[in-house]
Amino acid sequence: MKAQFSAPRGIGGEVVPPPDKSITHRALLLASVAEGTSTIGNILDTGDCRSTRGCLERLGVPIEDIAREPKAIRVHGRGLLGYREPPAILDAENSGTTIRLLSGLLAALPLYVVLTGDASLLRRPMQRVVEPLKRMGARIAGRDADRYAPLTFLPGDGSLRAVDHHLEVASAQVKSALLLAALRVPEVTRITGRIDSRDHTERLLRFLGLPLREEAGGLALSPCPGVPAFQLEIPGDISSAAFWLTAALISGRELAVRGCGLNPTRLGFLRTLEAMGADLQVDPEGEHGGEPVGAIRLRASEGLRGVAIGEAEVPSLIDEIPLVAILALFASGTTAVRGAGELRVKESDRLQAIARLVEAVGGRIRLEADGFTIEGGRPLSPGRVEARGDHRIAMAAAVLGAGIPGGVTVEGMEAATVSYPDFPRHYRMLGGSIE
Ligand code: S3P
Repeated sequence: MKAQFSAPRGIGGEVVPPPDKSITHRALLLASVAEGTSTIGNILDTGDCRSTRGCLERLGVPIEDIAREPKAIRVHGRGLLGYREPPAILDAENSGTTIRLLSGLLAALPLYVVLTGDASLLRRPMQRVVEPLKRMGARIAGRDADRYAPLTFLPGDGSLRAVDHHLEVASAQVKSALLLAALRVPEVTRITGRIDSRDHTERLLRFLGLPLREEAGGLALSPCPGVPAFQLEIPGDISSAAFWLTAALISGRELAVRGCGLNPTRLGFLRTLEAMGADLQVDPEGEHGGEPVGAIRLRASEGLRGVAIGEAEVPSLIDEIPLVAILALFASGTTAVRGAGELRVKESDRLQAIARLVEAVGGRIRLEADGFTIEGGRPLSPGRVEARGDHRIAMAAAVLGAGIPGGVTVEGMEAATVSYPDFPRHYRMLGGSIE
């Protein structure tokens, strides 16, 4: 789908973002191995989360829809050893979270399972989960010496051994895969190193009363008696809200975001907005399953200034970096992002994609191996951007259109359906125009 996105009167007002994608995946996966029936409310029902649900159903986990708007489901958990061998290959489609986290739950089960994905997922690194799971005793093989999917899981006896893991890459998907596998380890599993990525899995495990604790510089999960069934409401996704905060800022409007997850490990984008000069107010309103939830209010601001983002901050805004690049175009001075090499192995090479986005509207960017530098304040003109199957690039390009008279034409907008199918409806609702 090709469409031109613009906002002659700006983007602003009030929005409730869609349910959090990361928490939805984790809730589905933990419910699938729980003892008994779990109820999950306000669940994200889009491409990526449907991939997780589809894989779980093929593993013999019954899942019922119990309400539509907002969507709620019931998951009949099968226990940590209860998946059934699927008769065919499982397809995680475009979802890295599905394939990596599910690998942790499948490792060493007495089942033969093959996990594959779409063309983008087949290019993304899998050794980072395959190698540590093999050290825990799982028999897994991946294409090209374990580097890529499809991944094959050979039957084991269900048990895994305790291993001390040291994470070199700050990846929540790797950390979570190891924590999920560790649920079946009869001793303490320790994870140290780059554990500073989003901590939804840790919060959910603690919410369920499972024996996860923080130790000097790391995490320690003691043997688990099993996963209890639970009830959970999923908060709104701050990574989706980030599109509207960006659109409002570059088009000079005010915006209120309600019902939004405010997990501290996901707030790097808000901190960056403040550093760039945005006038934000964050009001926590409560907690859902150990996750803070609340409202974010953005007042129209006087002008943005460039900012420097380094390796330590990157995990807390990894999915919002395309939006930082957009804000940089409207800011005075220079914006520099470093330590973001992980963007090269997302749904697309997002550093390349950011460069194409910036150059499509006449911006100036210097690309580095692990980041970029953008000179702000140059005149921008209407342009055309190809999403190339990357949802966050499609939506970022549409948001950029809100700040440029004449807008931005996005090719491949349908990519947005993996995380935010209501994006075009919300774009119009907040004052934007799509032609
Ligand atoms: C996610 C973790 C991040 C993020 C992705 C979702 C998750 O990936 O980019 O959109 O739900 O765990 P990495 O863990 O690979 O950095």
